[in-house]
Amino acid sequence: MRFLFIGDIVGKPGRAGLAAAMPELREKHSPDLVIANGENSAGGLGITEKTAGELFELGVGVITTGNHVYRHRDAYGFLDRDHRVVRPANYPAGNPGRGATVVELGAMRVGVLNLSGAVQLRVARSPVPEADAQLARLDGDVDAVIVDFHAETTSEKVAMGWHLDGRVAACLGTHTHVPTADARVLPGGTAYISDVGMTGSRAGVIGVRREQALESFRTQMPIKFDTADEDVWINAVVVDVRDDGSASSIDQVLIPAP
Ligand code: FE2
Repeated sequence: MRFLFIGDIVGKPGRAGLAAAMPELREKHSPDLVIANGENSAGGLGITEKTAGELFELGVGVITTGNHVYRHRDAYGFLDRDHRVVRPANYPAGNPGRGATVVELGAMRVGVLNLSGAVQLRVARSPVPEADAQLARLDGDVDAVIVDFHAETTSEKVAMGWHLDGRVAACLGTHTHVPTADARVLPGGTAYISDVGMTGSRAGVIGVRREQALESFRTQMPIKFDTADEDVWINAVVVDVRDDGSASSIDQVLIPAP
């Protein structure tokens, strides 16, 4: 089975870039399932049913999220209702949405689990025991698990990769919007990367207009950020998974939107 995982899609430029690139991505990689982090798909912050719908239309099968998932109140019902979207499992119990979902791809049942880092991000429970609890819950219902670990620091991500090695097909980092150069299959058979990167404008600062980001750093005053829209790139990974749920390869995809 082949999985295409798309890094954080930022705003309309990210959605438009993905729409333009999707035919080429499909043709070249023939993924069995496309998973995308969509937590910044609405106006650069948050997700709505409409932006999620656009991603589903493009052929995204599962959307993962992170710290901006609750930005838009009108999405809460959608998060509860639609099993194709997940939010970090280690958020407070009872919050809208679910932390994991299962997709049936022919004979393979694939669990997609979303976790949030605890360093510099707010969570209800540490992601390490939460990962154990979630995997125990999924045990018997899935043949392979793909984890989106939405976290700030590379140290916490690397640690999670080791914690999950041999237990999941892939542990893929998101959130920083900057792709890292450490994609590899760990010794136990888990595909790992600290950060997949983003699908958005490379001309800005992690997705926002660079002059506004610089103004914010220069003045330390509140600044209204707009989504940068030039030079959009697709940051993704392709992961091949064996029938036993272990990964055989992970390859980075870093291409300009056509
Ligand atoms: Fe994030």
